[in-house]
Amino acid sequence: MSSYDLVLRGGTLVLPWGTEQADVGVRAGRIAAIGDLRRAHAAEEIDCQGLHVLPGLIDSHVHLREPGDPKVETIETGTKAAVLGGLAAVFDMPNTAPSITSREQIDWKRDFIRGRAWCDMGFYVGALKTNIPSLAELEAQPNVCAIKVFAGSSTGDLLIEDDESLERVMRSGRRRICYHSEDEYRLQARKPNYTSGMPHRMHAEWRDVETAFLGTRRLMALARKTGRPAHILHVSTAEELEYLKDFRDVGSVEVLLNHLTQTDEAYERLGAYAVMNPPIRDKRHLEAAWAAVRDGTVDTVGSDHAPHSRANKEKPWPDCAAGLTGVQTIVPLMLDHVSAGRLPLTRLVDLMCAGPARIYGVVGKGRLAAGYDGDFTVVDMKRSRTIEESWIVSPCGWTPFAGHRCTGWPVMTIVRGHVVMREDEVQDGPLGAPVRFAA
Ligand code: DOR
Repeated sequence: MSSYDLVLRGGTLVLPWGTEQADVGVRAGRIAAIGDLRRAHAAEEIDCQGLHVLPGLIDSHVHLREPGDPKVETIETGTKAAVLGGLAAVFDMPNTAPSITSREQIDWKRDFIRGRAWCDMGFYVGALKTNIPSLAELEAQPNVCAIKVFAGSSTGDLLIEDDESLERVMRSGRRRICYHSEDEYRLQARKPNYTSGMPHRMHAEWRDVETAFLGTRRLMALARKTGRPAHILHVSTAEELEYLKDFRDVGSVEVLLNHLTQTDEAYERLGAYAVMNPPIRDKRHLEAAWAAVRDGTVDTVGSDHAPHSRANKEKPWPDCAAGLTGVQTIVPLMLDHVSAGRLPLTRLVDLMCAGPARIYGVVGKGRLAAGYDGDFTVVDMKRSRTIEESWIVSPCGWTPFAGHRCTGWPVMTIVRGHVVMREDEVQDGPLGAPVRFAA
């Protein structure tokens, strides 16, 4: 008789080939069997009847701010938020204070997360004009998910805006590069048109469609010229989504939960708590983002979790910090979109498991299959619950989605066979480890 450390019984499994009601057995942190395990011995059994068992969902775009300001976020609090919200892994951005741009800092981060992170973590390395010659070596370091290039300025000091430097970045190394795509020259040229205290909706006018589209046209021209694959992060315009369909040889696409959920009415309702880069735009772009989810243009969906202190958010526009929290709320909100019929659960798993695995070259995660990590997000599609600010564990303490009622909610997060979240309680951790990538 086979024996397992953990068996999840009778759930509806979202497998790569479709959904099936079956048991799944985990041994030594990895999926050992999928099927009818009624006769197997299990040290721990969890009844999952009536629940969906997804591969552990991955948010491939978060800013956990460490090193930085612990009153805003830390690796411990951000990953606790992640597992409470149903995520089994996150990929953390490098625009911390200081930014992560060297081998020593990646080594530091790898050690630092041990005993602090609640979920597994991949690390971005930031591109600077001064570290371009080292990027090939940096992207090959263990646990690095990708190089991140800010081709337009946002939070922090990372910026590479000119074509010559961008081409040098693309010629240093070979893995897919992730880009913040907004044209810096257009941003700076138009900035004097705007003055302090203007309404928050001016954010979408300053950082307009052409700013994003021009940035993406320039990057894709260089990506084709150099043959270097590009993942365009947080694509926010209908124009870019249409354009990128013709660049599938070198280009892949991330869309954010926010751009699938909010439109420009949010500026009136939320003020600075709707300000992010690239901006939230009008309904035409939200509809284009959904069409791009439906036709397969979109490869990954992330939260771009970007916590800031209330004091920095509440400065007058355009000095208010740009960025919105989302690591704890992305899964409930995406499940709500599933419940509303905007996408099937299988596509959600494609966008938050198979997609990140394919785009970043994740080893051993992203699908329910024998030998893969025992990472699971167990969800109850019948449960309705309202997102409350008091639920948010990020020290900054706010969410732009307070009051949003979601149908579909994560009830368990399992990381390498450890149930780290069950019914809103974290347990058996922090045991997060670095994610492995095929470098
Ligand atoms: O709104 C944003 N906030 N966009 C970014 O690109 C960075 C992020 C942050 O780190 O605050």
